[in-house]
Amino acid sequence: MNIVILAAGMGKRMRSALPKVLHPLAGRPLLAHVIDTARTLSPTRLVVVVGHGADKVREMVGAPDVQFALQDKQLGTGHAVQQALPLLDPSVPTLVLYGDVPLTRASSLKRLIDAAGAERYGVLTVTVDDPAGYGRIVRDAAGKVKKIVEQKDASEEERRIAEINTGIVITPTRTLETWLASLKNDNAQGEFYLTDVVERAIDSGVEVVTAQPDAEWETLGVNSKIQLAELERIHQRNVANALLEAGVTLMDPARIDVRGTLECGADVSIDVNCVFEGRVTLADNVTVGPNCVIRDATIGAGTRIDAYTHIEGASAGANVVLGPYARLRPGAKLSDEAHVGNFVEVKNAVLGHGSKANHLTYIGDSDIGARVNVGAGTITCNYDGANKHRTVIEDDVFIGSDTQLVAPVRVGRGVTIAAGTTVWKDVAEGELVLNEKSQVSKAGYKRPVKKKS
Ligand code: UD1
Ligand code: CA
Repeated sequence: MNIVILAAGMGKRMRSALPKVLHPLAGRPLLAHVIDTARTLSPTRLVVVVGHGADKVREMVGAPDVQFALQDKQLGTGHAVQQALPLLDPSVPTLVLYGDVPLTRASSLKRLIDAAGAERYGVLTVTVDDPAGYGRIVRDAAGKVKKIVEQKDASEEERRIAEINTGIVITPTRTLETWLASLKNDNAQGEFYLTDVVERAIDSGVEVVTAQPDAEWETLGVNSKIQLAELERIHQRNVANALLEAGVTLMDPARIDVRGTLECGADVSIDVNCVFEGRVTLADNVTVGPNCVIRDATIGAGTRIDAYTHIEGASAGANVVLGPYARLRPGAKLSDEAHVGNFVEVKNAVLGHGSKANHLTYIGDSDIGARVNVGAGTITCNYDGANKHRTVIEDDVFIGSDTQLVAPVRVGRGVTIAAGTTVWKDVAEGELVLNEKSQVSKAGYKRPVKKKS
């Protein structure tokens, strides 16, 4: 089967410089969703018809298995398909999809493909409460499809038809060339309508069949930001339902956003307003508190992520405690049982088994061993203004509060760093390290008082 995706339209009503099919749904271009679905059907040829913003579209969804056909002027859906013809295999049928209809499921497309087989012309139709704006399916007394008539060309009577053309069709390819070549644009919009091919097919003795999708939302297109927002909600609700069906607890399925893939083990629980991006894996018994943003992360079993935690490009082992208000940046690797608490930022650093940084700390470009206690307000000074350097802290080190570690620096196993120390030289195993300074007290000190004006 060939698949042609129409994506040349400009999408005026989006009121945006970005071509319509590149607007993101769940963080990815609308067209990328359609291409994904097309791929699940293993097409022999996959052709995207581009026009408006063609270069940008090519750049953003280009892939070795995708070919592009250029439609210079948008003269109609029939004309658009015509531009793809030279790239198609004439011996197999052609399925036409729309780049701005992102949620069609492969199961519905398969129903259409099966109904049409190799010889028939198939139209995916749906019966709706409000058919305004769509092409109507006109049937004869016997119920056979006669033609499709566009809203703007329809009679009063035809406009009352509730069965509409979703736009998705499948057609034998060999005959398509002559059918498209014979299209006229003497209609209300002055366009070459793909819908008129139905009559050509009937005239040449090809049977026209229809199939229906599982759900009406599968056929909804995006023409405006309002429709884009509506489809985003439908998509997110579908993702949430799939998570619930897989046994994930969602405190409110209406308040989770997944922009990528979220894989969950058993008994995972997710509180409200969390955003998951890229590839995120949560192992068994992970709990995620409210308002967390988690992107490209792997989280081990039993780990607890408390409220307002941000994670990107990081991993945590089993039974880790994170947050509230923790931030893991790319390259943060937390071993089992580690704790990273409030206002602690970890970047490009390993935190060993059971190590804890519970308060107000920056750990960057560091290798921290097991059972290390990182006191409140500890800062790894990893940047000298030109280059980044590593800090190495071996097992069982105790770092007192308000410590600065000026990298590159190595602190040996079991070292104790006194509170308020600046460590700029390596410290050998087992030592106590502190900066010499003395505490001075003066008796009877009088605090300044505000002058009266
Ligand atoms: C089309 C159908 C209509 C159907 C509706 C479903 C025709 C004539 N009408 O109408 O029966 O009910 O879709 O949503 O086919 N495109 C191009 N090049 C063009 C024109 C369009 O690539 O020259 C692309 C658009 O980018 C869009 C799709 O084709 O992705 C549909 O075009 P649009 O103008 O929205 O068609 P409708 O008038 O909605
Ligand atoms: Ca449309």
